[in-house]
Amino acid sequence: MASASKINFDEPIPEMIKRLKSEHRKFESDFVKVKTSIEDNNVILASEIIQSISDEIIHHAVEEEARLMRVIMHKVKEESAESIKIIQEHNWVMNFLKNRIITIEKVSASSDPDEYEQAKNDLNEFVSNLRKHFKEEEAIVFPLALRAEAGD
Ligand SMILES: [Fe+2]
Ligand SMILES: [Fe+2]
Repeated sequence: MASASKINFDEPIPEMIKRLKSEHRKFESDFVKVKTSIEDNNVILASEIIQSISDEIIHHAVEEEARLMRVIMHKVKEESAESIKIIQEHNWVMNFLKNRIITIEKVSASSDPDEYEQAKNDLNEFVSNLRKHFKEEEAIVFPLALRAEAGD
């Protein structure tokens, strides 16, 4: 389901940005559940919640790269440095969702306590980093893409 072929290139950028913001809010409500699960010492549930939204997060990121970065690079390239850095954070998001989450899923309460703690730390870090990433996009990338689009 997370395929680049499903990107809708006809959706106007302002509408798309509104939708991406509402997706951030939706992911945030899942992160609250992930955080609660970690606090309850339920790493399995926390990783299941993340895996259940993994395809949506990946698709969301691919859309940002395909549409927002495209308009930014075409029209306001000289102002793109910070936005490029923020969008490159998708690399660790993808890596976590494709690799690390699989090993976390295998950690259970009976495993090595150090591994269990590490899994909890990594889940917490993933949520904190993504929250920060969403804020950066909304403060820097989205306004720049809107301005680039409006400056036709
Ligand atoms: Fe993103
Ligand atoms: Fe985003």
